[in-house]
Amino acid sequence: MLRGSLRSRAVVGGLFALSLLGSVFARPGEAADLAKGEKIYKMMCLKCHGETGKGDGPKAKELSKKPANYSDPGFFAKRPDEDLKKVVIEGKEPMPSFQARLKDKDVDDVIAYIKAFSKK
Ligand code: HEC
Repeated sequence: MLRGSLRSRAVVGGLFALSLLGSVFARPGEAADLAKGEKIYKMMCLKCHGETGKGDGPKAKELSKKPANYSDPGFFAKRPDEDLKKVVIEGKEPMPSFQARLKDKDVDDVIAYIKAFSKK
């Protein structure tokens, strides 16, 4: 009885240690998570940038400047990821800054997602 409960405690402790290790090793540089990027896009970006990234979201008409068309492959050819990332983190009138709402890895994921619009 006692031995059993000790063993299960050891197992729970081991699993806990493993999950800690997992979060330590989840670092930027790993492959972008497109599914996560899609979720973030739909929640925070779609209203301006549009369902398929054409810059025709429901809110786009109210903006002082229309967002770019991300389904045009030429668009990303001229823009390195670092520049795109900077806009998402810092914002660019009339686009708000997402620094407080997105982690660095979230920004990478959502950028990978918008870049995929031009590949369809
Ligand atoms: C309030 C509307 C709005 C929201 C919400 C918004 N954007 Fe934007 N975004 C814009 C506009 C307008 C521009 C163009 C700004 C310019 O060219 O000066 C832009 C520019 C960008 C750019 C820079 C490239 C370009 O088009 O010049 C990226 C990348 C981008 N947005 C990604 C995102 C992502 C990712 C999200 C969600 C996390 C998001 N945006 C949310 C309106 C928005």
